[in-house]
Amino acid sequence: MLSTENNARLTKVSLGTPMGMLMRRYWTPAAFSSEVAERDGPPIRVRLFGEDLVLFRDTSGRLGLIADQCPHRLASMFFGRNEDNGLRCVYHGLKFDVTGACTDLPCVPPVVPQVMESMQKSLRTTAYLCVERAGLVWTYMGPGEAPAFPDLEWTLLPENYRYVSRHIQECNWLQALEGGFDAPHLTFLHAGDNPDPTRGIVPSFYEVAACDFGFIVATGRDFGKETISWNLNVMLMPFHKIISTTPHAAHMWVPIDDANTMLYSIDFQPHRPLNETEIVRAESGDWIHSENLPNSDIGVRNKRNDYLIDRALQASGKSFTGLKGFGIQDCAIQESMGTLVDRSREHLLPGDAAIIKLRQLLLQALRDHEEGKPIPGSDPQSYRVRSIRCELPRDSNMAQLITTLVKADIAPTT
Ligand code: FES
Ligand SMILES: [Fe+2]
Repeated sequence: MLSTENNARLTKVSLGTPMGMLMRRYWTPAAFSSEVAERDGPPIRVRLFGEDLVLFRDTSGRLGLIADQCPHRLASMFFGRNEDNGLRCVYHGLKFDVTGACTDLPCVPPVVPQVMESMQKSLRTTAYLCVERAGLVWTYMGPGEAPAFPDLEWTLLPENYRYVSRHIQECNWLQALEGGFDAPHLTFLHAGDNPDPTRGIVPSFYEVAACDFGFIVATGRDFGKETISWNLNVMLMPFHKIISTTPHAAHMWVPIDDANTMLYSIDFQPHRPLNETEIVRAESGDWIHSENLPNSDIGVRNKRNDYLIDRALQASGKSFTGLKGFGIQDCAIQESMGTLVDRSREHLLPGDAAIIKLRQLLLQALRDHEEGKPIPGSDPQSYRVRSIRCELPRDSNMAQLITTLVKADIAPTT
């Protein structure tokens, strides 16, 4: 259980909120590069941390992510004309470049240049810096200078070494992230189509540690052998997870607003292109990726159709849930808790130890940020880690080993 106040601190992400301000200190994925591939092509809508924005690529190939509302009389820039190195509002013709500067003000009668200059200055719009990595457009929405881009392994690989998809989860980001670090649910929610041999045994050991990139959650299962089967999962600030599976996988739970999350899911192979079997599985909707409605980020299986639950399949025992796909099982259950779960009403159990610790560490990160202390993940190289599975002797001291076990020999930037 969490106090209502701390629940709000951890979950709310709009401008000025503690978590919203902390998250803005990191690079955030805004769109696929392919959505704005064309210079002077149509702008697209982007919503991040409750802010409505539009993204466009200008005549010179630069990316602009600016406020959706024109600063003149607040019309939507989505309808704008993308022309000659700027986006022009179609209401009265004001034009903005990728830095947010008003570069043309055609709707006023001729005035002396100084007056025009000062009017244009007062009409500057919000604009956020963008870079492209791994087929995505990323933005920095925080104060001051942008940090170096983190060395996330899957972003450093050639394009055909990874498969990236996304879909919208209609719930708060923290519900989705907590689901990613909730070890006991693997035994139940994903049972039936879970190839994990640890299925059927819930973890007995938990170790959670704060570290330079974020947190590590280690869960140990006891199969009655001489060793304990450990699963170490890394949470990289502020919303990344690397999954210990084959091929490797990753998630990013990016807040659209308090009630919606863009879930990016990635499969990747560090040393070779993904093969056909891996691509077929990724595209099937059986794995972590969602099959979406045409030209949308909404799953074919969504809350309005009860995720096409198959009760006969559920009754057959072949699937615990009757829901197709790991990703949709998670999505369905996380959305079923409500758009923003009231954690003051929970009744937590011993198996929730990792979740409790994760919340405490996130609250600590918020306090540190508010006090001006360093935040995790400032060193881009600290992201060179992987989630892993390993067998360790029963008397191993996980508290001591935890940070060294996840360090990975990740190839240098290509
Ligand atoms: S509202 Fe955009 S130019 Fe007037
Ligand atoms: Fe899951």
